[in-house]
Amino acid sequence: MAKPKFPDGSRTLSLLQKLQWITKPLEILEKQAQIYGDIFTFSFGPSNIPQVIVSNPEGVEKIFTADLKQLDSGKEAGIKLPLLGQHSLIALSGEQHRRQRKLLMPPFHGERMRAYGELIHKITEQVTSQWQIDQTFSVRSSMQAISFEVIIKAVFGLEEGSRYKELKEVLLEWLNPKRPLLQTMILMFPILQKNLGSWSPWGHFLLLRQRMDELIYAEIKERRAKLDSSRTDILSLMMAARDENGEQMTDVELRDELMTLLVAGHETTATSLAWAFYWIHNQPQIRDKLLQELDDLGDNPDSSMILKLPYLNAVCKETLRIYPVTVFAFPRVVKSPLQIGDYHFEPGTILSACIYLTHHREDLYPEPKHFKPERFLERQFSPYEYLPFGGGNRRCLGFAFAEFEMKLVLANVLSRWQLVLADSKPKPVRKGILLAPSDGVRMVVKGKRTQQRVMQTTSTGLTHGN
Ligand code: HEM
Repeated sequence: MAKPKFPDGSRTLSLLQKLQWITKPLEILEKQAQIYGDIFTFSFGPSNIPQVIVSNPEGVEKIFTADLKQLDSGKEAGIKLPLLGQHSLIALSGEQHRRQRKLLMPPFHGERMRAYGELIHKITEQVTSQWQIDQTFSVRSSMQAISFEVIIKAVFGLEEGSRYKELKEVLLEWLNPKRPLLQTMILMFPILQKNLGSWSPWGHFLLLRQRMDELIYAEIKERRAKLDSSRTDILSLMMAARDENGEQMTDVELRDELMTLLVAGHETTATSLAWAFYWIHNQPQIRDKLLQELDDLGDNPDSSMILKLPYLNAVCKETLRIYPVTVFAFPRVVKSPLQIGDYHFEPGTILSACIYLTHHREDLYPEPKHFKPERFLERQFSPYEYLPFGGGNRRCLGFAFAEFEMKLVLANVLSRWQLVLADSKPKPVRKGILLAPSDGVRMVVKGKRTQQRVMQTTSTGLTHGN
């Protein structure tokens, strides 16, 4: 006989549990999993809607492979995005989502993506050239500076100038608010969204959004007026793209997707890089092994050689396993009855694949709390066992780009700089919807590497030589 609609779990959280969910999300999830197992019910978020949390590969596979008529995400699953707009890929569902995703996909893969290698390299050099010997710095801030600049240049293709400068200022203020907790609360609780003038938080937010929209629409208008087919930035590629019916993206669609790529691609990559620097320097043998691998490449390896390095790949994978940047994949809503294991879910039920809990299963990853890149050299994991970028038709659009950027930035910095951890023992803490290192990872610049390997670029991407 089919079990009830909701598995066991905490359908209503006590005040203490709500507080714990904000301050110690991983602990509370682990506790729930210990009590209730692989599939349990948990209510969180402002609406307190119960969600079914799934963390076993069989269940994750069901979620990622279910037919779209059975399970979908987007606004139907309760995703609301006042920042990104209703045309954002993340808010769309069904056929609209499929069409938009197809238009957006090409620049993030293959040769087109690799063309951004040179840009990533240049920006990494620019940002790290500010470092001073013996200076203590926040790795996350440096990585944010890199990933922001990469996104704004690769996605918008903006040249330095007054619009670039103003857009950057407005975006930075929006993405890195002075009071991040307040902004998160306002975005989470619609009741706080009251425009009481530009001094009020929501009023200020709307003002920034308006200024940003003016700048973005001005750029789109200018580009439409003088189309340049030689441009390779993502905005130009999106403007040139046509769907099966020959239709192009509207200005509002372009604006919403630009914002989506910016927000989805900037902090995620920076946070992963900050964690990677921490783990690499926390265990000297890992750094030594990586340097050996990079040095063995000899002179002039291009970006595709760096992409293929097995140990660098394993380090990046383990970084995203141990503290995945997002705890969950996007929620999915059941649209027609769905069976997962013993559970039968009726339409309207929200299912969330839990990346963190799956990555911490002892049966898949022995000693899951230990950072061990070797596990990725010793065996292959299925997309339902290892899922830092989610999966199925929603799998992160920028996953290849993010891995590419992580590897190139790590290769560039490790080859050129000697860094050590300051007294940094970062804990994973919530930063909006992301899981970030509590102190941003603090490191000290010890000097340049003696066997200095100055990176150069070629038209095919990144190379290094002496
Ligand atoms: C290490 C860096 C990153 C991580 C860990 C990450 C992770 C994720 C995850 C978990 C999802 C949800 C997938 C699902 O629900 O199945 C997602 C979606 C998405 N990501 Fe990323 N992401 C990263 C970087 C990027 C970058 C660089 C971009 C683009 C420039 C990007 C663009 C997107 C977009 C557009 C979606 C929505 C896809 C859709 O709804 O179809 N992400 N990402």
